[in-house]
Amino acid sequence: MTTSLIIKASETEIEMNEYLKQLSVEFGFKLVTKSDSPLQLIWQDGQLQLFQIEQKNQGGVRVDFCSSQSEYRRNQASIKKEVIARAVGIKANYRPNVLDATAGLGRDGFVLAALGCNVTWLERHPCVAALLFDGLYRAQQDPNIGDWVSQRLKLIHSSALTSEDILPQLAQKPDVVYLDPMYPHKKKSAAVKKEMKVFQSLVGADLDADGLLASARKMAVKRVVVKRPDYAKPLNGEKPNFTIDSKKHRFDIYLINE
Ligand SMILES: C[S@@+](CC[C@H](N)C(=O)[O-])C[C@H]1O[C@@H](n2cnc3c(N)ncnc32)[C@H](O)[C@@H]1O
Repeated sequence: MTTSLIIKASETEIEMNEYLKQLSVEFGFKLVTKSDSPLQLIWQDGQLQLFQIEQKNQGGVRVDFCSSQSEYRRNQASIKKEVIARAVGIKANYRPNVLDATAGLGRDGFVLAALGCNVTWLERHPCVAALLFDGLYRAQQDPNIGDWVSQRLKLIHSSALTSEDILPQLAQKPDVVYLDPMYPHKKKSAAVKKEMKVFQSLVGADLDADGLLASARKMAVKRVVVKRPDYAKPLNGEKPNFTIDSKKHRFDIYLINE
């Protein structure tokens, strides 16, 4: 399902809201008051949200790092409990610099930043990048988390497939490149949350994901970490150096220089 590059908002917001104008310019969206698109980005309640219009009872998908759910997740996160922390190589006195090259709605990158890593998100889909930009902007204004969020998290709207375009945009080469491309699901599972279904309708399967591994290897100083569903083959069919299992996923780790 496709969405056109528009953000729907009220006439007043389109005229008066400077932040909304900035958002539209940054990601190439037209601001409109009406649209027929089945998937729409809508400016609602001071936030950017993605709606599947025919699913009337379904809420919008947004990025909200300031919610109580996100606060709980953050407070629960510890380097001992988080499998992702082991996967990227966090140690008591070491926090790698991470390029989260398939950022999506930013959850994994946010957990890593909450654990103390500097994280750069890369996201190529303009709608997803705009949702994440908006979530990051609101988190930066939050008195509880704004300081460290501003220091540790950055977003670049770009594809990760071409390392030569990405590296000049980074202050330093990342210690770790983290990849979590979309993977076609085995079956339509009822357990997939409604909001994830909307996200999947928007992004589809990342059919070119195999190409990410070579690009990531060129960028990472220490390791490339790939999150995979437990039933999926390794990315590009390439055997990792080792694997760490979590409940529903595994992390395939490719060592570069460790
Ligand atoms: C499964 S989601 C990532 C979820 C994320 N780890 C999280 O915690 O929210 C995959 C995302 O990677 C993005 N993506 C896929 N290939 C990409 C590429 N070559 N460059 C940048 N982003 C890419 C997709 O647009 C999608 O938003």
